[in-house]
Amino acid sequence: MKKRVVVYKRVPPALIARLREHFEVDCFDGVTPANREAFLAALKTAHGMIGASVKFDAAMLDGAENLEIASTISVGYDSFDVPYFLKRSIMLTHTPDILTDSVADLVMALILAASRRIVELDGFIRAGKWGHSVEEEAFGTDVHHRTLGLIGMGRIAAAVARRAHHGFGMKIVYDDHKRVPAVEAEFGAVSMPVAELLAQADYVCPLLPYRPENHKLFGAAEFARMKPSAIFINASRGKVVDEAALIAALENRTIRAAGLDVFETEPLAASSPLVDLPNVVLTPHIGSATAQTRDGMVEMAVDDLIAGLTGAKPPHLVDAAMWPRAINI
Ligand code: 8YV
Repeated sequence: MKKRVVVYKRVPPALIARLREHFEVDCFDGVTPANREAFLAALKTAHGMIGASVKFDAAMLDGAENLEIASTISVGYDSFDVPYFLKRSIMLTHTPDILTDSVADLVMALILAASRRIVELDGFIRAGKWGHSVEEEAFGTDVHHRTLGLIGMGRIAAAVARRAHHGFGMKIVYDDHKRVPAVEAEFGAVSMPVAELLAQADYVCPLLPYRPENHKLFGAAEFARMKPSAIFINASRGKVVDEAALIAALENRTIRAAGLDVFETEPLAASSPLVDLPNVVLTPHIGSATAQTRDGMVEMAVDDLIAGLTGAKPPHLVDAAMWPRAINI
């Protein structure tokens, strides 16, 4: 009898067809209040699941007694309790590398848009306010040759540093729990404590996975350490920022501006004060959201799922201890 798989995010038909060659497949276009009960019921008999943007807890998974693998269509896996997966010998795979350049491109887009006030000044024209050659009221701030401070120096941060240094002549400073000689050699990046980085950088950009120890890592004290001319850029996870403190820092001009792709709660409510601030550029968690990259992510996640359910080692396990699996006797 074929194993069962639950798909909980929209996946191209050709990849659904690939899954159906191996498994019985139940499809959900996201998990909503309307389909949540049916989704949880489908999980109870599922051997595998694939999707993204749904947070799972033990109560949702305890009933999924056959579950062998979860394949997330994302590089971040903070929606999952990894120790729970290890305890239950359930494999968890993710989609690293394939989205690195798309996310790094978006970070540069946010840096440029926030610095040169692209969204605000686009609205200026659309509102018929462009009456004469612009003066200081429309001035932005330079990006080239300024200092970019990266908190976290993983794959995506290194890709951002490459763009910023080689493309815009930016100086790179970074804080990570380890030194990264490769970026120091390639970009002349300088490692320093985060307190120094916040005081020096013209752009401050966390590129960290969300973990409990990173919860609201950036709050009022951190924003107060930044230069009033500095710009905060976040395309990692919203929960690494105390959003109320960021809003206050932007309203009080403790910092100049922000470019944000992620938020404490997503989707961001239209009633959020961020929506009314002129010195913020907002995008709806689109770091990996290009057709090419998302297709590649889904393909990678489907490959991992098929491998995991057909006895092969999935290439992108989030923890090596998940293989070889403790076979449930
Ligand atoms: C989206 C991301 O969550 O990969 C991640 O960790 O944050 C983004 O890529 C993902 O693409 C949703 O499908």
